[in-house]
Amino acid sequence: MRSKRIKLLTSSIFTLIITVFLFGCGQKEDIGIGPVKEEMKLAPVDAALYAKGETIFNTKCITCHKFNSKLVGPPLKDVTKRRRPEWIMNQILNPVEMAQKDKITKELLAQYLVQMTFQDVSQDDARAILEYMRAVDEGKVTPKE
Ligand code: HEC
Repeated sequence: MRSKRIKLLTSSIFTLIITVFLFGCGQKEDIGIGPVKEEMKLAPVDAALYAKGETIFNTKCITCHKFNSKLVGPPLKDVTKRRRPEWIMNQILNPVEMAQKDKITKELLAQYLVQMTFQDVSQDDARAILEYMRAVDEGKVTPKE
């Protein structure tokens, strides 16, 4: 009886530690705040979509972001590996509220001391940009620096 209780207690503590660990550094858990609330199911990278995203990126984002080094904002290399697609979409579509409320964006703001502004992109545009970032991270396209 007693050992059962200890076992139960040990497994609850273990679950708690795992949960704290996942959420504490668990940036991958974070989908951000904005229009994208549902989990996204991503198909393999689509060439037409990322080409569209590349054009938009080079018009609206390149003034502040490079991939391999800091500019005004963080380097975007491997961003699709460190963040969830939903989070990236919300960061693009809702950067001001993200900077006020989202844990990761608040940390980025504290680090970069500049707040990302909304670039007047539609949800479809943001999706195309996400595809471009995936293509860069998979080595399918080299960003111009
Ligand atoms: C005025 C400069 C500026 C522009 C323009 C801008 N950003 Fe940002 N971006 C930032 C800054 C600064 C941060 C970090 C602080 C924050 O989010 O406020 C950031 C953060 C990000 C992040 C999170 C990076 C990470 O490491 O998690 C992504 C993704 C991003 N931007 C994508 C974009 C895209 C895509 C565009 C174009 C639609 C864009 N940004 C336009 C300045 C900018």
